[in-house]
Amino acid sequence: MPVRMPEPFRIKMVEPLRTTTAQYRQEALKKAGLNPFLLRADDVFIDLLTDSGTGAMSDRQWSAMLGADESYAGSRSFFKLSDTVERLFGYPHTIPVHQGRGAEQILFPCLVERAKARGATAPIFISNHHFDTTKAHVEIAGAMVRNLICPAALDTARHDDWKGNFDLAALANDIEVQGAHQVAAVVITITCNSVGGQPVAMDNIRDAASLARQHGIPVVIDAARFSENAWFIQQRDPLYRERSIPEIVWEMFQHADIFTMSAKKDAMVNIGGLCCFREEDDLLRAAQLRCVPMEGFITYGGLAGRDLEAMAVGLEEACDVHHLASRIGQVTYLADRLQAAGVPIQTPVGGHAVFVDAGKIRPDVPGYHFPAQMLVNALYLESGVRATEIGSLMMGRHPQTREQEPALFELMRLTIPRRTYTDNHMDYVADSLVEVIERAASLRPLDFTYEPPVLRQFTARFKEI
Ligand code: F0G
Repeated sequence: MPVRMPEPFRIKMVEPLRTTTAQYRQEALKKAGLNPFLLRADDVFIDLLTDSGTGAMSDRQWSAMLGADESYAGSRSFFKLSDTVERLFGYPHTIPVHQGRGAEQILFPCLVERAKARGATAPIFISNHHFDTTKAHVEIAGAMVRNLICPAALDTARHDDWKGNFDLAALANDIEVQGAHQVAAVVITITCNSVGGQPVAMDNIRDAASLARQHGIPVVIDAARFSENAWFIQQRDPLYRERSIPEIVWEMFQHADIFTMSAKKDAMVNIGGLCCFREEDDLLRAAQLRCVPMEGFITYGGLAGRDLEAMAVGLEEACDVHHLASRIGQVTYLADRLQAAGVPIQTPVGGHAVFVDAGKIRPDVPGYHFPAQMLVNALYLESGVRATEIGSLMMGRHPQTREQEPALFELMRLTIPRRTYTDNHMDYVADSLVEVIERAASLRPLDFTYEPPVLRQFTARFKEI
């Protein structure tokens, strides 16, 4: 048997976790309107709500922060960050932003304006799959989204290496039918969060981008989990087995014109994001103009100099192959434990989370009674573990018709923060979830007592029916 490599770090500082009783959690969840987003984090034992901003920073990141330059304009820390971006991705123009959605809010309206100037009457964004805030920003900017994920992604039991891929035939057809002039951008989300943190193959990135470019459509990478995507390419594509992670990252980004990044994921900062451009053109100028009133001056974008320093170091650490093997290895470890117990999950497991197929566990519960949210709540009550719903609740309603949008699946996401929990924590999560699933038939469907008009999953309140 090959020796299983342990984490490539040791722990220098710890944060105690609080345990609670089942009765206490019952009360806490009731107060939170049966929505774990509204819990106090102190009432959570192991928090698998998100991998966003929840990772542990390294000693190198913390020490870089002390050397930060807090100048309002032109800070040394900004240049350190933009030099790192140029070296890793080949993009000379960096705008820091407070997080991923900051990049979306400064960029997307500019892309819509540009499309309108070129004759778009009903601008659209086409993606393998837009993340929910990304979709929200497209809609706020007055455009609509199209998600063209490959059909393999929709069958959670089917093994496919590249479930994050675009359906390229659908993409070609969409550009043809909608008209290239209507397409404000093609957005390549790596890895594809909405279908399970699934990787996009290099040839799929290249072909999707080349289809867009043939029609003069800008290509944007949503880069939140860029290095995890690169790791999958190295592991699964024989052409890239001998290539380093930085080489693969470089190549992926050569296919796009712009990238937005939530640096709270792979770049392992608690807050921060990026909006980066290859060309110095009107679009860059327009985004810079929007940045000043929305995010802050173009060399800090809502961040402190110390945040820029932590991000510069985090981007490099994200590309360390030992880190990636350990990080994705831990996600795989949890997935293997659950699969061994017969729990249906999105297979093969993706990079940042295990997505449990609640639709298969409670096929009798329609999407609008939120089968995955039922499991999320039951897991919290059982164990103090907080997960999140990726299904009908998150999907929400059509902005015009107000009908429930059909969800691709009903998933419970167990999202693993980077460098934060140990495999013992994963064992506890797996054991607790197996207990919950054994009595899943007794869980009661949910209905709203309060339904917010947009992004409803964050503040909705529920009752059992
Ligand atoms: N794009 C993707 C693919 C994301 O997963 C996220 C955030 C964003 C953009 C927005 O970035 O949060 O920094 O504004 N995803 C988090 C999650 C919130 O839990 O999956 P942000």
